[in-house]
Amino acid sequence: MRGVCVRVTPARPERFLIHRAAAILRRGGLVAFPTETVYGLGAVAFAAGAVKRIFAVKGRPADNPLIVHVGYRWQVKDVARVTPQARKLMRLFWPGPLTLVLPARPGLPAEVTAGLSTVGVRQPDHPVALALLRTLGQPVAAPSANRSGRPSPTTGRHVREDLGGQVDMILEAGPCRVGLESTVLDLTAEVPVILRPGGISREALERILGQVALDPALAGEAVPKSPGQKYRHYAPRAEVQLVPGEPPGLASLMVSRATELAAGGRRVGLLVSEETAACFGEQVREKYHLQVLGSRRQLEVVAGRLYEALLSCDRRGMEVILAETFPDRGLGLAIMNRLRKAAGAGRENTFPPATGSAARL
Ligand code: TXA
Ligand code: MG
Repeated sequence: MRGVCVRVTPARPERFLIHRAAAILRRGGLVAFPTETVYGLGAVAFAAGAVKRIFAVKGRPADNPLIVHVGYRWQVKDVARVTPQARKLMRLFWPGPLTLVLPARPGLPAEVTAGLSTVGVRQPDHPVALALLRTLGQPVAAPSANRSGRPSPTTGRHVREDLGGQVDMILEAGPCRVGLESTVLDLTAEVPVILRPGGISREALERILGQVALDPALAGEAVPKSPGQKYRHYAPRAEVQLVPGEPPGLASLMVSRATELAAGGRRVGLLVSEETAACFGEQVREKYHLQVLGSRRQLEVVAGRLYEALLSCDRRGMEVILAETFPDRGLGLAIMNRLRKAAGAGRENTFPPATGSAARL
């Protein structure tokens, strides 16, 4: 049976539903499930055939490895070599939005690692994900449950709209708390390297590890070590343009750009902070599809709403999205990484041409 969608109580997942989902995975099926970051599309990590099907369903390039999810920390040793540094990070940040890239165990299917000698592992911090993983008792390979290149799903509805009918079961449990994917941290280099900024900030990692580097590819200066980072990503159908600066200047820049686009007959969506929205008059609110992400002082709220805001612009048929930019600090680094990717990572999509810190990363 394909595409069964069931509603699960996030805080106390119904046992019979979790058992049903685990049985589907054991038989080699695919189950979409919520995590604290985004929804994942899972298969038993050692079931090469099922893992292959994940790539087909997502339309994912074969050279992009999957993250292995565990219900218990001790399971990591079944898929990876655990270093003392990794053990420390697991103790401090797991369960949570931190993926550790470690040397892979030889038995792991090449489909999971995309042929690399390393593997990304994490323990998600969501009662439904943990119940499923623990009931199953095996590691689960799971990318985000979206078609490749699209924004990641942060609600069950997003999964249904993107992949419904192609997966064996979708466990729906409302919106994801973090709303952006996990931080991917490579521990196989001499100095730990962030390959993808995410739910755990660089600053938080530096407090534990001392020096933490950013993959030069995040600044567009090299070929990414995390294969997933080299593709256009997190992108709605609409064209995304970034507007630099801070309110109130940013607000007037956005309005003049929106006016120009609207004069050219284009349908424009605005993705802004509360502070910028407060600068807009009634006319702007009526003329454009406005998505208020949250306060610039509460980036966790902005992160949580970002993908839903992009997808909402698509649902309303917007052709261009003008997006506010945020400082590259804390969660801002992850937010800006996703926005730049959504914009095609190109300076040509920044208005006006980016300068200073907005041009980097
Ligand atoms: O929050 C998350 O990480 C979500 C939830 C479902 O756990 N998962 C997720 O998976 O975002 P995915 O497949 O959409 O992104 C995984 C990223 C990709 O950029 C991939 O290239 C990178 O992690 N990655 C995985 N294994 C890697 C490895 N061995 N070396 C380098 N990068 C790796
Ligand atoms: Mg993804």
